[in-house]
Amino acid sequence: MDLLLLNGPNLNRLGKREPDVYGHETLADIEKRIRLLCSDHEVGLSCFQSNHEGALIDRIHQAADEGTKGIVFNPGAYTHTSIALRDAIASVEIPVVEVHLSNIHKRESFRQNSMLAPVCIGQISGLGSDGYELAARALLTKIGRN
Ligand code: DQA
Repeated sequence: MDLLLLNGPNLNRLGKREPDVYGHETLADIEKRIRLLCSDHEVGLSCFQSNHEGALIDRIHQAADEGTKGIVFNPGAYTHTSIALRDAIASVEIPVVEVHLSNIHKRESFRQNSMLAPVCIGQISGLGSDGYELAARALLTKIGRN
């Protein structure tokens, strides 16, 4: 039984990228933390990051084919633009939690809308890297592994 931690564009730069907005932890730090949490609950974790919309869509389809039980997804800037990612999420039966390190609702107006939130089971925004952990915990509960 597996969860997927999926990260979109520019999140490979975490730690170096605008640390006042996104914090000092690297993506590797976050992936390690979520992998440990999942292993405590005897659940596997796959991690994937891409700067390319199509690669993220392919990974979501792959997750469905592999029987992945839930996805923690920070879509980065694609959150605000991508009908294709929204359709990819809607095309699979996997529960997806949308995560943002920053609070998108108190930033620029172009960040305040999510194309993806309506097809996700929930959204966590503004809690920094804790948001990834809270999302993973919610999915663990949903699949009966809390
Ligand atoms: C982000 C918020 C997005 O608006 C931005 O484009 C990102 C990161 C966040 O985690 O706060 O790349 O998803």
